[in-house]
Amino acid sequence: MIALLKAVHIGALALWCAGLILLPVLMHVHGRRAEMRTQAGFSEFRWLTHFSYTCVVSPTAVVAVTAGTALIFAAQVFDVWMMLKLVAVAGMVVMHALLGHMIVKVGEGHGQFRLPRVGLALLAIVPLIGTVLWLVLAKPDFEDLIALLPEMLLEPRGNTIPARLDPL
Ligand code: HEM
Repeated sequence: MIALLKAVHIGALALWCAGLILLPVLMHVHGRRAEMRTQAGFSEFRWLTHFSYTCVVSPTAVVAVTAGTALIFAAQVFDVWMMLKLVAVAGMVVMHALLGHMIVKVGEGHGQFRLPRVGLALLAIVPLIGTVLWLVLAKPDFEDLIALLPEMLLEPRGNTIPARLDPL
Protein backbone atom coordinates (compact mmCIF):
# COMPACT_ATOMS: atom_id res chain seq x y z
CA MET A 1 0.00 0.00 0.00
CA ILE A 2 2.81 2.43 0.95
CA ALA A 3 4.70 1.55 -2.24
CA LEU A 4 1.59 2.22 -4.33
CA LEU A 5 0.91 5.56 -2.60
CA LYS A 6 4.53 6.57 -3.06
CA ALA A 7 4.44 5.65 -6.76
CA VAL A 8 1.29 7.73 -7.28
CA HIS A 9 2.79 10.56 -5.20
CA ILE A 10 6.06 10.69 -7.13
CA GLY A 11 4.39 10.26 -10.55
CA ALA A 12 1.96 13.11 -9.87
CA LEU A 13 4.49 15.46 -8.30
CA ALA A 14 6.88 14.97 -11.24
CA LEU A 15 4.14 16.28 -13.55
CA TRP A 16 3.17 19.06 -11.11
CA CYS A 17 6.75 20.29 -10.73
CA ALA A 18 7.36 20.06 -14.48
CA GLY A 19 4.20 22.11 -15.05
CA LEU A 20 5.18 24.73 -12.47
CA ILE A 21 8.47 25.21 -14.33
CA LEU A 22 7.05 24.97 -17.84
CA LEU A 23 4.14 27.40 -17.39
CA PRO A 24 6.23 30.52 -16.55
CA VAL A 25 8.62 29.69 -19.42
CA LEU A 26 5.74 29.19 -21.84
CA MET A 27 3.95 32.35 -20.73
CA HIS A 28 7.12 34.43 -20.72
CA VAL A 29 8.38 33.35 -24.14
CA HIS A 30 5.03 32.97 -25.93
CA GLY A 31 3.52 36.05 -24.28
CA ARG A 32 6.22 38.28 -25.75
CA ARG A 33 6.07 37.00 -29.33
CA ALA A 34 4.70 39.32 -31.99
CA GLU A 35 2.06 36.72 -32.91
CA MET A 36 0.44 37.35 -29.53
CA ARG A 37 -1.07 40.44 -31.12
CA THR A 38 -2.88 38.34 -33.75
CA GLN A 39 -6.09 36.47 -32.99
CA ALA A 40 -4.53 33.11 -33.93
CA GLY A 41 -1.47 33.72 -31.73
CA PHE A 42 -3.58 34.82 -28.77
CA SER A 43 -5.91 31.81 -29.16
CA GLU A 44 -2.92 29.46 -29.22
CA PHE A 45 -1.47 31.09 -26.06
CA ARG A 46 -4.85 30.93 -24.37
CA TRP A 47 -5.40 27.28 -25.30
CA LEU A 48 -1.93 26.15 -24.27
CA THR A 49 -1.97 27.87 -20.89
CA HIS A 50 -5.62 27.14 -20.03
CA PHE A 51 -5.47 23.49 -21.10
CA SER A 52 -2.19 22.71 -19.36
CA TYR A 53 -3.26 24.51 -16.16
CA THR A 54 -6.75 23.02 -15.83
CA CYS A 55 -6.19 19.56 -17.32
CA VAL A 56 -2.62 18.67 -16.31
CA VAL A 57 -0.94 20.90 -13.71
CA SER A 58 -3.85 21.41 -11.29
CA PRO A 59 -5.17 17.81 -11.29
CA THR A 60 -1.67 16.40 -10.76
CA ALA A 61 -1.14 18.87 -7.88
CA VAL A 62 -4.31 17.59 -6.22
CA VAL A 63 -3.27 13.94 -6.71
CA ALA A 64 0.29 14.62 -5.40
CA VAL A 65 -0.97 16.39 -2.27
CA THR A 66 -3.72 13.80 -1.63
CA ALA A 67 -1.34 10.84 -1.99
CA GLY A 68 1.28 12.66 0.13
CA THR A 69 -1.26 13.33 2.88
CA ALA A 70 -2.31 9.66 2.87
CA LEU A 71 1.38 8.69 3.02
CA ILE A 72 1.92 10.76 6.18
CA PHE A 73 -0.53 8.52 8.04
CA ALA A 74 0.25 5.27 6.21
CA ALA A 75 4.02 5.58 6.81
CA GLN A 76 3.64 7.43 10.15
CA VAL A 77 5.95 10.29 9.12
CA PHE A 78 5.60 13.06 11.71
CA ASP A 79 9.20 14.33 11.76
CA VAL A 80 10.36 17.95 11.79
CA TRP A 81 11.68 17.74 8.19
CA MET A 82 8.19 16.67 7.11
CA MET A 83 6.60 19.73 8.74
CA LEU A 84 9.18 21.98 7.08
CA LYS A 85 8.49 20.22 3.78
CA LEU A 86 4.81 21.13 4.16
CA VAL A 87 5.78 24.80 4.63
CA ALA A 88 7.79 24.70 1.37
CA VAL A 89 4.93 22.88 -0.40
CA ALA A 90 2.58 25.66 0.77
CA GLY A 91 4.90 28.09 -1.07
CA MET A 92 4.57 25.96 -4.21
CA VAL A 93 0.78 26.07 -3.87
CA VAL A 94 0.90 29.89 -3.61
CA MET A 95 2.98 30.08 -6.80
CA HIS A 96 0.57 27.65 -8.47
CA ALA A 97 -2.36 29.93 -7.60
CA LEU A 98 -0.46 33.01 -8.79
CA LEU A 99 0.14 31.44 -12.20
CA GLY A 100 -3.54 30.52 -12.45
CA HIS A 101 -4.48 34.10 -11.60
CA MET A 102 -2.29 35.41 -14.40
CA ILE A 103 -3.67 32.91 -16.92
CA VAL A 104 -7.21 34.06 -16.12
CA LYS A 105 -6.25 37.75 -16.25
CA VAL A 106 -4.59 37.41 -19.68
CA GLY A 107 -7.40 35.28 -21.10
CA GLU A 108 -10.35 37.16 -19.71
CA GLY A 109 -8.97 40.66 -19.17
CA HIS A 110 -10.24 41.89 -22.60
CA GLY A 111 -6.83 43.38 -23.38
CA GLN A 112 -6.79 45.34 -20.12
CA PHE A 113 -4.13 43.19 -18.49
CA ARG A 114 -0.43 43.50 -19.25
CA LEU A 115 1.45 40.28 -18.54
CA PRO A 116 4.23 40.92 -16.01
CA ARG A 117 7.62 39.19 -16.27
CA VAL A 118 6.18 35.75 -15.48
CA GLY A 119 9.59 34.09 -15.92
CA LEU A 120 10.65 35.70 -12.64
CA ALA A 121 8.28 33.29 -10.87
CA LEU A 122 10.96 30.65 -11.46
CA LEU A 123 13.16 32.45 -8.93
CA ALA A 124 10.71 31.30 -6.26
CA ILE A 125 9.48 28.04 -7.81
CA VAL A 126 12.83 26.34 -8.48
CA PRO A 127 14.27 26.96 -4.96
CA LEU A 128 10.98 25.82 -3.40
CA ILE A 129 11.02 22.54 -5.36
CA GLY A 130 14.72 22.11 -4.52
CA THR A 131 14.05 22.67 -0.82
CA VAL A 132 11.22 20.11 -0.79
CA LEU A 133 13.37 17.53 -2.57
CA TRP A 134 16.33 18.16 -0.24
CA LEU A 135 14.13 17.82 2.86
CA VAL A 136 12.47 14.60 1.73
CA LEU A 137 15.60 12.95 0.34
CA ALA A 138 18.17 14.02 2.97
CA LYS A 139 15.64 13.83 5.84
CA PRO A 140 17.86 16.18 7.90
CA ASP A 141 17.82 15.82 11.65
CA PHE A 142 16.73 19.13 13.15
CA GLU A 143 17.18 18.04 16.78
CA ASP A 144 20.03 20.56 17.32
CA LEU A 145 17.85 23.35 15.98
CA ILE A 146 14.97 22.38 18.27
CA ALA A 147 17.32 22.40 21.25
CA LEU A 148 17.86 26.12 20.60
CA LEU A 149 14.21 26.87 21.44
CA PRO A 150 13.50 28.31 24.89
CA GLU A 151 13.09 25.66 27.59
CA MET A 152 9.48 26.68 28.29
CA LEU A 153 8.48 25.60 24.75
CA LEU A 154 9.98 22.15 25.18
CA GLU A 155 8.46 20.97 28.47
CA PRO A 156 4.89 20.26 29.59
CA ARG A 157 3.29 23.04 31.63
CA GLY A 158 2.28 20.67 34.42
CA ASN A 159 -1.41 21.58 34.37
CA THR A 160 -3.75 19.21 36.22
CA ILE A 161 -5.67 16.75 34.07
CA PRO A 162 -9.22 18.01 33.36
CA ALA A 163 -11.93 16.05 35.17
CA ARG A 164 -13.65 15.23 31.91
CA LEU A 165 -11.66 14.49 28.76
CA ASP A 166 -14.55 13.24 26.64
CA PRO A 167 -16.52 15.76 24.53
CA LEU A 168 -19.62 17.20 26.25
C1 HEM B 1 1.13 18.32 0.78
C2 HEM B 1 2.06 17.82 -0.01
C3 HEM B 1 2.93 16.64 0.32
C4 HEM B 1 2.82 15.72 1.33
C5 HEM B 1 1.78 15.66 2.43
C6 HEM B 1 3.92 14.76 1.17
C7 HEM B 1 4.17 13.69 1.99
C8 HEM B 1 5.11 12.70 1.74
C9 HEM B 1 5.34 11.54 2.57
C10 HEM B 1 4.63 11.23 3.87
C11 HEM B 1 6.32 10.80 1.98
C12 HEM B 1 6.91 9.47 2.50
C13 HEM B 1 8.22 9.77 3.19
C14 HEM B 1 8.90 8.53 3.70
O1 HEM B 1 8.40 7.42 3.53
O2 HEM B 1 9.99 8.67 4.24
C15 HEM B 1 6.71 11.48 0.77
C16 HEM B 1 7.67 11.04 -0.12
C17 HEM B 1 8.21 11.80 -1.10
N1 HEM B 1 7.82 13.09 -1.45
FE1 HEM B 1 6.24 14.09 -0.72
N2 HEM B 1 4.66 15.13 0.07
C18 HEM B 1 4.10 16.26 -0.48
C19 HEM B 1 4.55 16.96 -1.59
C20 HEM B 1 5.73 16.68 -2.25
C21 HEM B 1 6.33 17.51 -3.27
C22 HEM B 1 5.72 18.79 -3.81
C23 HEM B 1 7.51 16.91 -3.64
C24 HEM B 1 8.54 17.34 -4.65
C25 HEM B 1 8.80 18.57 -5.00
C26 HEM B 1 7.63 15.67 -2.88
C27 HEM B 1 8.65 14.77 -3.02
C28 HEM B 1 8.67 13.53 -2.43
C29 HEM B 1 9.64 12.48 -2.75
C30 HEM B 1 10.75 12.58 -3.80
C31 HEM B 1 9.34 11.40 -1.92
C32 HEM B 1 10.06 10.04 -1.87
C33 HEM B 1 11.09 10.06 -0.78
C34 HEM B 1 11.67 8.71 -0.44
O3 HEM B 1 11.06 7.69 -0.75
O4 HEM B 1 12.76 8.69 0.15
N3 HEM B 1 6.54 15.58 -2.04
N4 HEM B 1 5.96 12.64 0.65
